[in-house]
Amino acid sequence: MKTAGPRLIEFTLFGDPATGFLTVAVLEDDIPFEVRRVFWTCGTPPGVTRGRHAHHRTETVLAAVCGRIVVSTELPDGETSEFTLDEPSRGLYLPPLCWRTMKYEAAAVQIAFESRDYSEDDYIRSLDDFRRLHAAEGRGE
Ligand code: TYD
Repeated sequence: MKTAGPRLIEFTLFGDPATGFLTVAVLEDDIPFEVRRVFWTCGTPPGVTRGRHAHHRTETVLAAVCGRIVVSTELPDGETSEFTLDEPSRGLYLPPLCWRTMKYEAAAVQIAFESRDYSEDDYIRSLDDFRRLHAAEGRGE
């Protein structure tokens, strides 16, 4: 069975250029899981790539609060996608077992909502391991 892949989510945006904008995430309506943890980044120099991991079980929604983040994903079946987060009202849902890299541009700040407590055991930090894990599953190991 094919796993549901990453997908964009639109949050509600209020405001105008004269006063600025406000984006709201109503957790129960806008995030497709119960949020357990929220974190945000700062000070990532433009051009830096973060991420380079997948999670065994954690689901994630990302957004760029400011700047631009180009997210590249890979699923266990090898399908790859690229998403540009350059509006605070645009979120990206990432399922478990979704390899992601985030290229930060234009002084980007990322906010992330996650479905589970932090645990290093939930991370797959090697792309080779990620690909091997699923090749093994495909062979029924
Ligand atoms: P990491 O998830 O690797 O960040 P990124 O993918 O943006 O590069 O996390 C960076 C560091 O922060 C790593 O040492 C783990 C730590 N960390 C926590 O302790 N708790 C958390 O909730 C998160 C997200 C990270």
